[in-house]
Amino acid sequence: MKKLLMAGLMAMGIGTTCRAAETPDNLIRIGTERTDLILRVGDDHRLRQTYLGPKLMNDVDLEHFARSGGGFEAYVTYGMEDYFESAIRVLHADGNPSLLLTYKESDQQENDSVQTTRIVMQDEKYPFEVRLFYQAYKHENIIRMWTEIEHAEKRPVTLYNYASSMLHFSRNGYWMTEFSGDWAREVNMSEQQLNFGKKVVDTKLGSRANMHVSPFFLLGLDAPVAETTGDVVVGTLAWTGNFRFTFEVDNVNNLRLVSGANPVGAEYVLPKGEVFRTPEFIFTYSTAGAGPASRDFHDWARRYQLKNGAGDRMTLLNNWEATYFDFDEAKLEKIIADAADLGVDMFLLDDGWFGNKYPRSSDNAGLGDWDVTATKLPGGIGALTDAAKREGVKFGLWIEPEMVNPKSELYEKHKDWVIQLPNRDTYYFRNQLVLDLSNPEVQDYVFGIVDRLLTEYPQIAYFKWDCNSPITNIYSPYQEDKQSNLYVDHVRGLYRVLDRIAEKYPALPMMLCSGGGGRTDYKALKYFTEFWPSDNTDPLERIYIQWGYSYLFPSKAVAAHVTSWGRQSLKFRVDVAMMGKLGFDIRVNELSQSDREFAQSAVANYNRLKPVILDGDLYRLVSPYSGEHASLMYASKEQDRAVVFAFNLNPRYAEPVRNVRLQGLDPQRIYTVRETNLMPGAHSDGKRFSGDYLMKVGLPLFSASHLTSTIVELTAE
Ligand code: DGJ
Repeated sequence: MKKLLMAGLMAMGIGTTCRAAETPDNLIRIGTERTDLILRVGDDHRLRQTYLGPKLMNDVDLEHFARSGGGFEAYVTYGMEDYFESAIRVLHADGNPSLLLTYKESDQQENDSVQTTRIVMQDEKYPFEVRLFYQAYKHENIIRMWTEIEHAEKRPVTLYNYASSMLHFSRNGYWMTEFSGDWAREVNMSEQQLNFGKKVVDTKLGSRANMHVSPFFLLGLDAPVAETTGDVVVGTLAWTGNFRFTFEVDNVNNLRLVSGANPVGAEYVLPKGEVFRTPEFIFTYSTAGAGPASRDFHDWARRYQLKNGAGDRMTLLNNWEATYFDFDEAKLEKIIADAADLGVDMFLLDDGWFGNKYPRSSDNAGLGDWDVTATKLPGGIGALTDAAKREGVKFGLWIEPEMVNPKSELYEKHKDWVIQLPNRDTYYFRNQLVLDLSNPEVQDYVFGIVDRLLTEYPQIAYFKWDCNSPITNIYSPYQEDKQSNLYVDHVRGLYRVLDRIAEKYPALPMMLCSGGGGRTDYKALKYFTEFWPSDNTDPLERIYIQWGYSYLFPSKAVAAHVTSWGRQSLKFRVDVAMMGKLGFDIRVNELSQSDREFAQSAVANYNRLKPVILDGDLYRLVSPYSGEHASLMYASKEQDRAVVFAFNLNPRYAEPVRNVRLQGLDPQRIYTVRETNLMPGAHSDGKRFSGDYLMKVGLPLFSASHLTSTIVELTAE
């Protein structure tokens, strides 16, 4: 029988698979060092997921999966026998709405501890192929999945659903955490139990796609998500546009998770021979809670995904909240001098420097006209980069190149470049419209903005790339009769522009910004060194916002600026910002002498602690969601240094105050623990503790005071 099955599988092409010898022939094992995803090709040639969970230790057990008939269809097609959410739904050129995929062939390769699996599926009746890809990062315990769709039918096929991935879970219960909010209220965490039916997390905003919800989730299996215990899946879609996660619990309490670009309003008309590649779904499976899952994501991002993930980050002084649009050359030169005085690496000039016919003196004009406003800055960008050079700081510049104000020369010249309905009143978001990046001419224009600025002013060392409007009035003059391709083609157009920038300026650091945290996905972060999490920089709020992002992103990707939002002390504001990529956006000239000295010493402290904060392991110790205190720490990979942040929020009268128990230390080593980031004149004597004590007994870092903070530095002997 085995012989027959193998012969059958050879005929099906599975013989082309080069898999570990011990894996039975009808199984495809996708695995990291800690997770296994096992697929089985049935006698009926259908592909089923038979296992997803912690790594199986003994290969002998794989035979059980090889022989069992169970499992869930790996990529469910619409129109056949399945009653629940499908991964793919298409309409063939002849009007037939069904698809049935069977296994054709597969292969697997491993390079530098990254295993890539390709499985080709085909329809029996139509020349229609779906290729499933799985990339397993062995050490980092991350799996990436995407799909390619291609056909050879005579006329175009319409794709109504085109998931990147489908995963199945068969557990007693499911708890999903979403990260939702709005402008200045990003990534509020809320958890809900999933019961029968669907929970959909999606967005239809087009460009500022994550304004209301971020493209990631936590999923607790059998129990709500905890930090250090339990099976947890953390997943995200790498797509800078509309996304959709569908969690569907069926009649027997199985959960299927379908992830991909949101197909609503985006049915894709696919011509013969064109490959439709979906965005990537990226996930990790932890058996010890969300903590290890986040650390795996951080390690993977620093190593493989985030632009210059292994590199350093610059501290900066931004002028946005200090001046808004109200500045001139003299004022900026003073701020540049303040940047040098603070000791930061860079001055970042924000919005308001461009436009001549329609100068950008508020948000209702100028977007699209990227020439320096001569009346405001007569010396041009050159005078400012010269000033920065004199002061010994770098110069960064804000742009919003995907957008246009109707009050602009660009709009007067190129209305046909704008996403806008031809026959209705236009709806504006922040007085602006989105350029049609599906149009190659527009792509050239947007690339040209960056290219021209960098050619003219090679001293520009950094861009803050903003995107303040969602797509409104969805209609592309370029797409003509393929309007529903726009959402997908627009995002692909953006990637073409960013690819060209990355190719020509590979080392250029850039901040991804979108009216705060309106864009925070891992595909965009391939092109950006960091992102702006929120315009809300009130440090109390930021504790929650940075906490939320920490589940997916390493601190070096999360820009955190000290501003004048909130009424807290400068120390509290700086301590919060030091948990991320530190910057300032304050009027330095209005600081008291003691605050100015504190800020200078904080920058120096940050530079000393940066290797641990930006590249160490994050441990979330006390959640702000669980009470009126919060604490997290970073520990170096070598466990010889650590930095602990502790915050008193607004404790109630006589609320009990407990020690903070640390994590990630070496129990055998002795650490000197010293408070740092103290106000001028204050001093802390170091105390010695073992790692064991610090993790079992902890430190008394909290108090009953309001809006105060402590940072302690640990150094191993
Ligand atoms: C929105 C961003 O989030 C802000 O930081 C600032 O750059 C403004 N845009 C400028 O218009």
